[in-house]
Amino acid sequence: MKKTILITGANRGIGFALTKLCLRKDLCVEACCRNPDNSHELNNLSNNNPHLNITKMDVTSSKSILKASENFKNEIDILVCNAGVNNGKGDIFSDEHNENAIMEVMMVNVGGPFLTIQNLYKNLNKKTISKIVIISSLMGTQTHISNNAPIYRASKAAANNLMRTISNHFLNDNIIVSSYHPGWVKTDMGGANADISTEESATGLINHFLNLQKSDSGKFFNYDGKPLPL
Ligand SMILES: NC(=O)c1ccc[n+]([C@@H]2O[C@H](COP(=O)([O-])OP(=O)(O)OC[C@H]3O[C@@H](n4cnc5c(N)ncnc54)[C@H](OP(=O)(O)O)[C@@H]3O)[C@@H](O)[C@H]2O)c1
Repeated sequence: MKKTILITGANRGIGFALTKLCLRKDLCVEACCRNPDNSHELNNLSNNNPHLNITKMDVTSSKSILKASENFKNEIDILVCNAGVNNGKGDIFSDEHNENAIMEVMMVNVGGPFLTIQNLYKNLNKKTISKIVIISSLMGTQTHISNNAPIYRASKAAANNLMRTISNHFLNDNIIVSSYHPGWVKTDMGGANADISTEESATGLINHFLNLQKSDSGKFFNYDGKPLPL
């Protein structure tokens, strides 16, 4: 029986690379994105592919997530909370860090995984071990010494903390909850000068997702599987 992976923000960047790779690895993909009609690359991928199901979903809205869940074809074995925004790379005094920008980044990067997991718990495959992964960032680690992107960093620190809390909630269940740094990746967010391609990031991530053990729950990993400090 094929495993099913759900990916949020599946239309571009790391989410799209994960989608392509999962199909190549013979997984079924529930690909969720805000605007399926404009997601041309994703739609091209789905032509004649019965293992890819595209669904409209905004991770900041419970209503949107619940509506999306009515369209899923399969129970979920791996739930990937990938959707994210970084709308402020400057320091504390940068104009980028206004109320609206702060609310958006916190709502997408923290509220998004929270609402996705809260509303899609019912769709997890409970007959076997299921996995929840949050795509976080090394920028959220508490041991850093940088002074830029304060709100994005705080949002990813909170995403890691959320991962710990939810992993504790499912301590005695067949559910593994972990978070990942995808690397510095060449995407719209990471920019052209980033270290690695989306394919390299996705390859490392998927290999580790598939091998996650219960003892990995509550932990933060690099895309190549190395443990990272929270
Ligand atoms: N790239 C890096 O170097 C890097 C490093 C560390 C961590 N990360 C993390 O990796 C994840 C993916 O990043 P990326 O580089 O692939 O970014 P990206 O290319 O900018 O793509 C972001 C994705 O998130 C989606 N998204 C944003 N807000 C959403 C919402 N409210 N509901 C649903 N989807 C939403 C976007 O959809 P639309 O197309 O509709 O906007 C898009 O699909 C993010 O969580 C990011 O923080 C990235």
